[in-house]
This record gives sequence, structure tokens and C-alpha cells, in this order.
Amino acid sequence: MGQLDTKTALITGGSTGIGLATAHRFAAEGAHVFITGRRQAELDNAVAAIGDNATGIRGDVSDLDDLDRVFAAITTRGRGLDVLFVNAGGGAFATLEQLTPEGFDDTFGINVRGAVFTVQKALALLNEGASVIVTGSTAASKGNPAFGVYAASKAALRSFTRTWAAELAGRNIRVNTIAPGPTNTPGLSGLAPDPSQAQGLLDMLAGNVPLGRLAHSDEIANAVLFLASDQASFVTGTELFADGGEAQL
Ligand SMILES: NC(=O)c1ccc[n+]([C@@H]2O[C@H](COP(=O)([O-])OP(=O)(O)OC[C@H]3O[C@@H](n4cnc5c(N)ncnc54)[C@H](OP(=O)(O)O)[C@@H]3O)[C@@H](O)[C@H]2O)c1
Repeated sequence: MGQLDTKTALITGGSTGIGLATAHRFAAEGAHVFITGRRQAELDNAVAAIGDNATGIRGDVSDLDDLDRVFAAITTRGRGLDVLFVNAGGGAFATLEQLTPEGFDDTFGINVRGAVFTVQKALALLNEGASVIVTGSTAASKGNPAFGVYAASKAALRSFTRTWAAELAGRNIRVNTIAPGPTNTPGLSGLAPDPSQAQGLLDMLAGNVPLGRLAHSDEIANAVLFLASDQASFVTGTELFADGGEAQL
């Protein structure tokens, strides 16, 4: 028996990194997993690696028409949604002085607007007892220079999680935030200004973690699985840190 047997899940940003690791884990636990992302090649590779339990749908979460196509495809399958992992996101380094309106809109457009309308458009599909998990970040609890817009976008999501948990409790739908610490993914390496500086950035970030290393994506996926599963049946509105102690100690 898998922990997600007969369940249907959607993971936005499921083609690489934390989303892909979680898609593998959900599929291994018996779920059918829909995954999204903007790049078709990465999606195709991810679906091929996961196997028959995965369906890829290309889409940008900041584009409402793309979101409609994603939910139309899930509607066609006819089983609703038991797990929604609102994970697509990213950011870029810029101090307050360096910040541009375009950079602000890009980060908030994907991380916040994209997440809000993903959840809104999923409402009709969410089954009784469903679990919604939103990817936050330890950055929301800290004051890292040059990461303010990203941190604020994740703090906004942490706030929305509380509100959505309250609004959906009557349908027995749980809503929680997963807050990863620095996790070894293409997205994290991509924060470096050029590839030659990526390792230095990863080493610096690992040095801020009490456990002394970056997380593996699988370690975040394990925590997401807990929130998605019946093991977390009395857990809602919370923020689960999987951060090696980064924001705790
Ligand atoms: N890695 C970390 O240290 C860390 C720590 C805390 C929180 N997080 C959060 O964890 C989540 C996943 O990040 P990751 O590190 O796994 O990064 P990643 O490897 O870059 O994966 C991001 C995924 O999201 C997709 N994506 C990005 N923008 C999208 C958009 N507008 N619409 C649809 N899909 C989109 C990407 O595919 P496409 O590029 O093809 O669209 C990819 O599948 C993000 O929300 C990130 O902020 C990461």
C-alpha cells in the first residue's frame, strides 16, 4: 500500500528540482501526478523518468490562460484533485537600490500571483479531504541582503496559507507551507551570476546551515509527502521547515 494510492496530484514546477523529486515520490506512493513547467523538453524528460503515473502539461503559472488549460486537462481525467503542490517559483538577487519594477513584477507575478490563481482555479476540483502544500522558504523568516523581493513573496505565501487554511477547513481541505532551506537544485545554482560562481554560492549557503550542507531535493520531498498524506491529517495552517536548522538556531 502506497501512502497516496488512488490519489491525483498536481505539482506546479514539477519538471526539475524540488518539484521533480516530489513528483517521483508521489508517483512511487501510488498517486497519478500532473506536473507543469514552462520548458517542454524538461517536462518531457521528467515524465519519461517518472513513467506511466505522470502527465506533463506545459504552462506558465503567471499566465491565467495556461492555468485554465492545466485545470481543463485535470478535469478531463474526472477524478478531481487530492493533492495540490503549489511549487513553481524562483527569484533573483537584487538589493533595494538595484531593484527594477520589471524584476519586482516578475518575482511577484510567478511566486505570488501565480500561486494565488493556481489555488483559486483548483478550488472546484479539490476533493473533500484534499491537501494543499505551498512552497515557501526560510528566506521569508530572515533578512538576507539582496533577496528582499523573493523573501517578501514567500512571506506573502505564508500569510495566504493561513487564510486559505481557514477558508477551506469546512471542506476538510488542509493547507500548509513547506519552507525548505537551501536545497541543491538547478534553481539554486541558477542564482549565481554565472556558472563559474555557482559552487562558491552553494558553499556559502551551506555554511549558513547548522547541519553544514545543502538539502537534497528528496529530503524536501519527504516533508512534502508527510503534509500530503494522511499522516498529517490534523495539520493545517502551519509552516513546516525542512532547513537543516537554518532559520531555527
Ligand atoms: N532550492 C532552494 O534552495 C529553495 C529553497 C527554498 C524554497 N525554494 C522554492 O522551491 C521551489 C522550487 O525551486 P527549485 O529550487 O526546485 O528550482 P528549480 O529547479 O528551478 O525548479 C523550478 C520548477 O518550477 C518551474 N517554473 C519556474 N517558473 C515557472 C512558471 N512561471 N510557471 C510554471 N513553472 C515554473 C521550472 O520549470 P520551467 O523553468 O521550465 O518553467 C521548474 O520545474 C520554488 O518555489 C523556490 O522558490 C527553493
